[in-house]
Amino acid sequence: MITIVGSGNMAKALISPLKDGYDLEVIARDTSVLSELKLKYPVITTTKIDGKIDIDGKDIILSTKQQALESLQFKGVANVLYSVLAGTTIDILRQNIKAKNYIRVMPNVSAKYQKSMTTLTGDMAAQNDAVKLFDNIGQTVWVDSEDKLDIATAIAGSGPAYLAIVAQGLIDGGVNCGLSRAQSRQIVAGLFDGFSPLIAQTLPQDIKDEATSPNGTTVAGCEVMERYSIQECMSQTVATAYERAKAIKDENKNKQTKDKI
Ligand SMILES: NC(=O)c1ccc[n+]([C@@H]2O[C@H](COP(=O)([O-])OP(=O)(O)OC[C@H]3O[C@@H](n4cnc5c(N)ncnc54)[C@H](OP(=O)(O)O)[C@@H]3O)[C@@H](O)[C@H]2O)c1
Repeated sequence: MITIVGSGNMAKALISPLKDGYDLEVIARDTSVLSELKLKYPVITTTKIDGKIDIDGKDIILSTKQQALESLQFKGVANVLYSVLAGTTIDILRQNIKAKNYIRVMPNVSAKYQKSMTTLTGDMAAQNDAVKLFDNIGQTVWVDSEDKLDIATAIAGSGPAYLAIVAQGLIDGGVNCGLSRAQSRQIVAGLFDGFSPLIAQTLPQDIKDEATSPNGTTVAGCEVMERYSIQECMSQTVATAYERAKAIKDENKNKQTKDKI
């Protein structure tokens, strides 16, 4: 049995793929959302938060906002605490919730299509179970430190927003040249779909070489991207998001310390 605490977007993205392989319990404070979920997925158990949440011996997926840690109370010791909370370290989790094993999980918004690129880290004893569980919402990569989770977050957690900016530029480009917006968007969506197996199997430079012919259209387009230093821009984008992830972690740590004084 898996207990999900929270009923927001991420909890909803998890329920649909997990409900078939696991007994699922969803614990949250919004009764209307819980009723909707029960109607949609009769097999799950829904429970309104009422006093201390019993986590004893359970596998818990914490899927609330970080501020919930200030108000939620728990009783017992969870078997595994999986936390999807961005910027909340295992130290902070340990201070607030008792568990035998702690795992931090960083999914992305594609979880709702079971296409999340999810990174995980935490107690090795729970690694296999964690990877198996989150493979249900897409692909997983286990990293060996929270620092690496922050780097991965700067790529894959934030990545859908970066790619949305790239997609917007491509769509606008198509429209500027004469396509309808709907057609241009459909073409860009197909491009992203087809790119996924390519990048999984082929080095970026080889894809570029394969797609360019001398004095052709692609090389002309690539020259513009190089003039605007798109590669450097993307690299700096990740570095800046990583710095911000570290700063948020520090802010959360300081807040916890202040709350305890
Ligand atoms: N969405 C993503 O793509 C994504 C990706 C990676 C990580 N995350 C992480 O996933 C977590 C949830 O994100 P989300 O997108 O699902 O947010 P969301 O849609 O806003 O849902 C937040 C959930 O947290 C609950 N909550 C907030 N404060 C609470 C409190 N004081 N006590 C009890 N429950 C409380 C909300 O309950 P109410 O409905 O009653 O307010 C709701 O169920 C966040 O920590 C975020 O960092 C999200």
